[in-house]
Amino acid sequence: MHLVQEWSTELRYKPYHEWPTDYLEELKKTMNDSTWRLAYHIQPTTGLLNDPNGFSYFNGKWHIFYQAYPLGPVHGVKSWYHLTSINLIDWQDEGLALLPGGMYDSHGVYSGSALAVDDHLFLAYTGNVRDQNWQRHSFQLGAWLDNKNQIQKLPEPLIVKPPNGYTQEIRDPQIFIFNQQYYLIIGAQNKQEEGKILTYKSSDLTHWQCLGELTFSNDLLGFMVECPNLIFIDNQAVLLFCPQGLDQEVLPYQNIYPNTYVVADGFDGETNTLSKPSPLKNLDEGFDVYATQAFNTPDGRALAISWMGLPEVAYPTDEEGWAHCLSLVKELKLEGGKLFQRPVNEMKTLRLDRHSVHGTLGSVQKIYSPKENRYELQLDFDASTQGTLTLFADEDTNTGLTLSFDTQNGTMTMNRENAGTPFATEFGTVRTFEIPQKDLSLQIFVDHSVVEVFINQGEKVASARVFPKKDQTTILLEGTTGVFSGEYWTLRPMK
Ligand code: FRU
Repeated sequence: MHLVQEWSTELRYKPYHEWPTDYLEELKKTMNDSTWRLAYHIQPTTGLLNDPNGFSYFNGKWHIFYQAYPLGPVHGVKSWYHLTSINLIDWQDEGLALLPGGMYDSHGVYSGSALAVDDHLFLAYTGNVRDQNWQRHSFQLGAWLDNKNQIQKLPEPLIVKPPNGYTQEIRDPQIFIFNQQYYLIIGAQNKQEEGKILTYKSSDLTHWQCLGELTFSNDLLGFMVECPNLIFIDNQAVLLFCPQGLDQEVLPYQNIYPNTYVVADGFDGETNTLSKPSPLKNLDEGFDVYATQAFNTPDGRALAISWMGLPEVAYPTDEEGWAHCLSLVKELKLEGGKLFQRPVNEMKTLRLDRHSVHGTLGSVQKIYSPKENRYELQLDFDASTQGTLTLFADEDTNTGLTLSFDTQNGTMTMNRENAGTPFATEFGTVRTFEIPQKDLSLQIFVDHSVVEVFINQGEKVASARVFPKKDQTTILLEGTTGVFSGEYWTLRPMK
């Protein structure tokens, strides 16, 4: 059987059941020998994964869904794929969950969120429909998941059309409870093609009243906003969202589209306003974070997870019939009004053998040579040090992904120009950002083709996909002055 090489629109929207039954088996074979498959990150079983959806806690388990197109590494007709976990680390495959095909979601079950209500989980998502002229129609839809993971779609949309003055580019509802009312925020575009976030309110989850645009910034938010999430930390509000086409004057960024956030003093549900909002900031300083989804958990945390991939960008695994993964689960905290993102505590349970690493910075030295790119590395440096850490390094050439830091000038640069198979080079191979001019601490997670760097306890995060050769695993360090110390752990794979 031949795998599709040229993806026409018709093929991308062909219903799953019309594909030959052994097509997926054939596709799996192309992934068998991949050295880029991940050990402890959520990845698609076949085909493409994009946004995390419905991240929630229900019926004694964590639930996560993701946007899936199982038949190839392209954005075809989407479903929600379901996983559950008792520890946020090991994820059980629950299979395809919300499938397209109804009159309101014939061309894709798009992104959305979940909210536990009594003994059911309510799912709110966007139904994507294309008419004969391939014009988009977006419906905001609801479904109930029961404690046996069975899903019942609601027969009628929650929101049947965009309010006057807005286009059909309206999607990705996030529902949450605020002041004993249900709220829903959603990414939108007005008729002037400006990106907006709209707010709706309901007392019964079925009748939704539009409150208009969420007020939080005077800046133009590009031409479209995707995947907004409002969460609450210590009574403050944090809004995460993805403005497409954002002006570089508002916020410099280099990825095709940024994933941004603002921190505000609070949310006023009556006036639909965030009070004292900060300017827009980049959620991640690296290359591949988008569509982050966050929620307030019953155990009092604010947890987030991101799509590690970007729209409209080709990745080397496309050749192997799969694309993208999710990030680690990150806990969001506010300290002194600043957002911190940290790997969830549960990540510590993945640690296997521990090695201590320490020394003096100087000419390039090997600090560890793992058998496999599957580890956590913590490194601490004194203030006033300058250096370069190379991950995924090739023993012959000493090249790999570099992280250069200068705590004196307060800058850090991640460079993947010489790391593995090049890709997305049209968006630059270097990301430079500010770090505080003080001691530096790095907590780094490496998983075959992923790196996530948490800087100074998560004050900044830089994440990237990297596609090295199997034996490009060495960790090198060089620098001008100072000492370093830290720890290395091999991490066990997800069970
Ligand atoms: C973001 C996004 C969402 C949409 C989904 C479709 O990556 O474009 O706005 O709901 O992906 O897969």
